[in-house]
Amino acid sequence: MAVIAVYSVKGGVGKSTLAAALAWSSATVSRRHTLLWDLDVQGAAAFLTGHERPHGKQAASIFSRETAPADLVRHTRWDRLDLLPADDSLREIDSLFARIGKKRRLARMTEALSRDYERIILDCPPVLNSLSDQVIRAADLIVVPLPPSPLSRRALTAIRDELVRNHKKHPPILPVLSMVDMRRTLHREAVAEANGWPVIPMSTHLEQMATRREPIGAFAPSSPAAQAMARVWTGIERKLCS
Ligand SMILES: Nc1ncnc2c1ncn2[C@@H]1O[C@H](COP(=O)(O)OP(=O)(O)OP(=O)(O)O)[C@@H](O)[C@H]1O
Ligand SMILES: [Mg+2]
Repeated sequence: MAVIAVYSVKGGVGKSTLAAALAWSSATVSRRHTLLWDLDVQGAAAFLTGHERPHGKQAASIFSRETAPADLVRHTRWDRLDLLPADDSLREIDSLFARIGKKRRLARMTEALSRDYERIILDCPPVLNSLSDQVIRAADLIVVPLPPSPLSRRALTAIRDELVRNHKKHPPILPVLSMVDMRRTLHREAVAEANGWPVIPMSTHLEQMATRREPIGAFAPSSPAAQAMARVWTGIERKLCS
């Protein structure tokens, strides 16, 4: 089992889009039992897989062990892909983690879920707090979407600094250039400098995930963006299995 966190301290960089699309690839292309776990109160992962936001307030109580993950998991319409949706209780998640004081609580939960899943994809909120601490301790790989801009570079530096400062043993980071438009000079330069990092193009199809409410592979599998996504997923699988 492997845990892949899609994470950045910066908002709006394409984390949820990437998390939902990669989870679909994991379940459908790699045929792995996959859980897409939404840790962000905004609830984008449910939205992007066609599910309604839960009315209850139970998602956070998984961490205090009052609720079993299986009680909240929903099957999606794609074989092998399950969703653990966010709800309003996650607003309090930072203070809950501070209160329970167990730094590997999320890691323990994902370890227990390895009975049912081969891949767990975490859609993370853009925060640097006790939740991101838990994510770093649970993840086998941290995927960081990075639109080609100086501000995203700063976000990557902030994540690297945090890992070095507070997490002696930390998982590898995979930066993924996202929303790349090769007509723009800045973007072309970023790709040239990117040491072979994977590239996800700026794409109407990826944007449409939010109107169609399904991962790109399900409705435009031969589009350049879906193929780029498939390459990113294959690269992740290779990294995890090496
Ligand atoms: N490669 C892309 N091309 C075009 N639009 C994209 C691409 N990736 C994401 N988007 C769009 O950009 C917006 C932000 O994407 P998304 O919600 O995935 O980012 P996020 O990092 O999860 O945001 P937040 O920090 O709020 O959770 C959405 O409208 C999404 O449809
Ligand atoms: Mg998001």
